[in-house]
Amino acid sequence: MTAGSPRVFHQLRVQAVIPEAADACSLVFDVPHELAGAFAYQPGQFLTLRIPSDRDGSVARCYSMCSSPLTGDPLTVTVKQTPGGYASHWIAANVRPGTVLDVLPPAGMFVPSSLDDDYLLLAAGSGITPVMSILKSVLAAGSGRVVLVYANRDERSVIFGPVLKDLAAGAGSRLLVVHWLDVLQGLPAGPQLVPLIRPFRACRIYASGPDPFLSAVREAASAVGVPPRGVRVERFLSLQHNPFDVAEPVAAGVAAMLEVTLDGETRSLPWPAGTRMLDVLIDAELDPPFSCREGICGACACQLTGGKVEMASNEVLDDADLADGYILACQSVALTPEVSVSYE
Ligand SMILES: Cc1cc2nc3c(=O)[nH]c(=O)nc-3n(C[C@H](O)[C@H](O)[C@H](O)COP(=O)(O)OP(=O)(O)OC[C@H]3O[C@@H](n4cnc5c(N)ncnc54)[C@H](O)[C@@H]3O)c2cc1C
Ligand code: FES
Repeated sequence: MTAGSPRVFHQLRVQAVIPEAADACSLVFDVPHELAGAFAYQPGQFLTLRIPSDRDGSVARCYSMCSSPLTGDPLTVTVKQTPGGYASHWIAANVRPGTVLDVLPPAGMFVPSSLDDDYLLLAAGSGITPVMSILKSVLAAGSGRVVLVYANRDERSVIFGPVLKDLAAGAGSRLLVVHWLDVLQGLPAGPQLVPLIRPFRACRIYASGPDPFLSAVREAASAVGVPPRGVRVERFLSLQHNPFDVAEPVAAGVAAMLEVTLDGETRSLPWPAGTRMLDVLIDAELDPPFSCREGICGACACQLTGGKVEMASNEVLDDADLADGYILACQSVALTPEVSVSYE
C-alpha cells in the first residue's frame, strides 16, 4: 500500500444469506470471472467489508471465509452478531440477496502450513469460521487428521452443527469433533483445556475466537510444553482504522542498523529507510513470529530496547504495552539510525 492512498477494493454482490444459528448468518458472494484472481484465497483467510455508518461514513470489518477454496464452494463468510456491536447488526438487518458490498481482497496468515499435517483446531463462537475453512480443506485436499475443540455458550449458539456432523460421518477417523458447552461445563479456562490439548500437543495448533478463550488456550498449551509460537491464533478484533479511506501518511523512516535478539541469537542487520522491520528480519532469513501483517493480531510484537520506531497502524497494543516498550514489527519503520529489539 502506498502511504496516503486507500486500499484497492472491489464490489461484490451477495448471492445468498443463510441463517446459521441464533444470531449468525453466512453471506455467499458472487465473484465475477474477471475478479476470480483478486478473490483467490487460502483456507483461513478473511475479507474486509465496508459497512455504511451515518456517524463515520463507513467502518471496515474483517470476516473470515468459512468456505474452502479447494471444494468448489462459493466464497462465503459467516457473521455472528456481537452484543452491542455495530457492523454485525447492520449486516443482519440490511444485507439481502442482491446487496452489493465494497470488499477488500482476501488477506491473513491464519492459514495451514500443509494440508498433510495433523491439526488441533480450537474455536470459540464465531471463531469457528476460519477453522471451518481449514478443516474442510485438510479433509478434502490433504492427508492430515483434524481434532476440533469447539466451545459455545449453549446448543443454540453452535454454528455449523449439522455440517460438522456430516463431515465427521464422512471423514471417519480423520476428524474428531469435541463440543464444549459453557452452560454445561462452564467457561473453558486454561486448566480445563489441558486434558484436551495434551494428547494432541504434537499437532499443529490453531486457535480462533475471543481473547479470553485464546488466553486459556495459550495457558493450557504452555502447561503441556507447547512454546508460545506453537499456537497460531486469529484474534477477532474490530478494525479501528478504515483501510477504505485515505490512509494516514506514514513516516518514510530513516536508514538504520537493527540489532535483533531472537531465538537466543543477536544479529545486526541493515534496515533500509521506510522498510517494515518484519521484512528486514524475513529478508535476513530469520524466523520472526507474525500473522496478519496489518497491525491487528499482535503476533509480531517484540520489545524495543534502543532507538525509536514509528508504527503505521496499531490495533492491538494498549497504552500499558506501549509503555513497556512493545512494538509491532510488521508496522514499524526506523526513526533513529540505531534501533535494537528483543523477542526474548
Ligand atoms: C482477522 C479477523 C477475522 C474475523 N472473522 C470474523 C468472522 O469470521 N465472523 C465474525 O462474526 N467476526 C469476525 N471477526 C470480528 C469482526 O471483524 C468484528 O469485530 C465483529 O463482527 C464485531 O464488529 P461490530 O461492528 O458488530 O462490533 P463493534 O461495534 O466493533 O463492537 C465490538 C464490541 O465493542 C464494544 N464497543 C463498541 N464501541 C465501543 C466503544 N466506543 N467503547 C467501548 N466499547 C465499544 C461493543 O459493545 C462490542 O462489545 C474477525 C475479526 C478479525 C480481525
Ligand atoms: S503480524 Fe499481526 S500485528 Fe503484526
